[in-house]
Amino acid sequence: MDQDLIDALQDQFNKERQNAQFYFELASEADNANWPGTAKFFKASAYEELQHSDWFGGFLIARNVLPRYDAIPQIPSVAGDSLVAWFEAALAKEKETTAAISALHEMADDDVSDPQTIAFLKEPLDEQTKSELEITDILKELRRSGPDGWIVLDQKYGEMKDGNED
Ligand SMILES: [Fe+2]
Repeated sequence: MDQDLIDALQDQFNKERQNAQFYFELASEADNANWPGTAKFFKASAYEELQHSDWFGGFLIARNVLPRYDAIPQIPSVAGDSLVAWFEAALAKEKETTAAISALHEMADDDVSDPQTIAFLKEPLDEQTKSELEITDILKELRRSGPDGWIVLDQKYGEMKDGNED
């Protein structure tokens, strides 16, 4: 496999590991502010990110490459203490991830022509589409209801991830 492509897959493996820590941090912020449903949503998202990192690690191993475990950088807390601020941060993170995986796809397609990588990236890209839509809808709902409606929505977001973690 092309070395630049291997390096890019290793980078994405590590970005997914960082994404998990990002969501654990958001879960802590929500938990600390006593939004238990939102905390549960973010914690479940963190475990999903671990699953994504495992997809990339598994694909590297399938291509006979050992995954590289980088140090996880410190995760800053989100400026702003509200459900909207946290979900906006989550949407920005998902968009960043979609752009990174899209760039990887472009490399595998145009630069080095690696059909196995292109096939592998379908599931991560589909997952990005799903995550961006889910968070976009939540932000619309939070803004429409205003803070008075957030107690009910917080409960709903916890229930959305029932049977998904812990
Ligand atoms: Fe991810």
